[in-house]
Amino acid sequence: MSVARPAATAALLQVDAIAGRLTGRQALAEVCRFLEVSFDHYAWVGVYRLEGQELVLDAWEGPAATEHTRIPIDRGLCGRAVRDNATIVVDDVRASPEYLACFLSTRSEIVVPIRSDGAVVGEIDIDSDRPAAFDASDRRFLEEVASRLSRAVVASGAKPPA
Ligand code: SME
Repeated sequence: MSVARPAATAALLQVDAIAGRLTGRQALAEVCRFLEVSFDHYAWVGVYRLEGQELVLDAWEGPAATEHTRIPIDRGLCGRAVRDNATIVVDDVRASPEYLACFLSTRSEIVVPIRSDGAVVGEIDIDSDRPAAFDASDRRFLEEVASRLSRAVVASGAKPPA
């Protein structure tokens, strides 16, 4: 799957509009909702904020809640994205020893750091029911979304490790 450039450009305008209209957790919830309904291969969309050594689920949209509402940064694909300060793409979660399972239907996952002044303050986490659902266009698009969510994550109370 992929996100075509015209669709990405239109979606980024929507994200800008949401981030201009709403603040903090309300903005994050609205962006999760927008991404989940707009892209078929995004089955579950969440945003975590970083609180010291732990990721805390701030907002999500999808068919079911996850039990992983708090994730220590030494665990999971979510933790690795913080430790590496890098986007993580896993084409087959069943083959990943680091993967923390949320939903039986999940086959692939992307985790994109949200940064403030270069430091990770949170992340976008997206699960797909399709194997290898995320390509370079998803990565580029979601990194652009992440840069637009920096202010909202900080406003929701993100605290980088001391
Ligand atoms: N799979 C993630 C945990 C979060 S759920 O996907 C919502 C991980 O491995 O860190």
